[in-house]
Amino acid sequence: MKRIFSGIQPTGNVTLGNYLGAIKNWVALQNEASCDCIFCVVDQHAITVQKNIGALKRSTQETAACLISAGIDPVNSILFNQSQVEEHMKLAWVLGCLTRVGWLNRMIQFKDKANQDKDNASAGLWWYPVMMAADILAYKGTHVPVGDDQKQHIELARDIARSYNFAFGVEFFPLPQAQILSKSFRIMSLCDGKKKMSKSDSSDMSRINITDNADTIAHKIKKAKTDSYSLPSETGGLVGRAEAQNLITIYAALSNKSVEVALLEYGGCGFGRLKRDLAELAIEVIRPIRMEVHRLMSDIKYIDNVLKKGSARASALSKPIVKEVYDTIGFLST
Ligand code: AMP
Ligand code: TRP
Repeated sequence: MKRIFSGIQPTGNVTLGNYLGAIKNWVALQNEASCDCIFCVVDQHAITVQKNIGALKRSTQETAACLISAGIDPVNSILFNQSQVEEHMKLAWVLGCLTRVGWLNRMIQFKDKANQDKDNASAGLWWYPVMMAADILAYKGTHVPVGDDQKQHIELARDIARSYNFAFGVEFFPLPQAQILSKSFRIMSLCDGKKKMSKSDSSDMSRINITDNADTIAHKIKKAKTDSYSLPSETGGLVGRAEAQNLITIYAALSNKSVEVALLEYGGCGFGRLKRDLAELAIEVIRPIRMEVHRLMSDIKYIDNVLKKGSARASALSKPIVKEVYDTIGFLST
């Protein structure tokens, strides 16, 4: 049986990048019979950068509402927030002691997020991949559906799991595998096709949020950066044209087509037609999700209750696993 684990940070609005790169895949996996799925709103990770002060509770609830609205079924799957299950932190300490400093120093996301100013970044931001490994391993997760930007962190989780098994001469932790949709499903910023579409970008015009209304979506797509050439009819023609690549990728992902097939439709056309069709499609996909988020957010008690029940189920799964780790290590429990 596959045990799926994945997480999302409540650091602001859930974006179309999160939806196409990760959440859509989570929903598909949840409906596979042979999967056991655990999805976590990683609120402890969200404080590694000091952006969300004062808004964390609300962001956690809204992120959970977005996941439910996008199709995560909190009965079928386990949906919870990280800080309510102490096993993550308990395991993270142990795993941190098996992680080499050099491994963490190689993490690309740390370098990106620290913005070349490593000495001023929080120690939490640097150490975060250990906690991410603990998130997965506290459940003996086997498969981790994430966007392509998280691949290196999953490789690290494998190294850490291997390191534990070797240190104690056991086959305790499975080596978790990243489940990444095609690389082309990395959705980029609407203002700069070389930057990832991100919740934390300072410009709201750079992203489409799951909670954006039709006018906002249409406006953002209309203003999205392009170049002055027409669209190519083959993927080779997208090389060096990051914005064209991004818009056609978003169109393809939203319409469940390959980029090749989408280019057959738009090859030779200017951006006008693509942008018009893309806006229509994005509005159609996002509208029902946005309306459901709105409905759920007016019933915060329901969301809190989902997270409470999910946390209890997550605790029941992770407690015996982390207990066995503590016993193996030799922590005295009196
Ligand atoms: P985060 O917003 O960093 O918590 O990411 C949550 C999930 O969404 C992770 O699996 C990411 O890999 C994925 N993700 C975030 N941004 C993008 C993007 N622009 N394109 C594709 N996947 C993304
Ligand atoms: N690091 C992930 C991100 O920034 C979020 C995350 C935290 C996660 N813990 C995880 C993803 C465990 C998968 C598994 O997107």
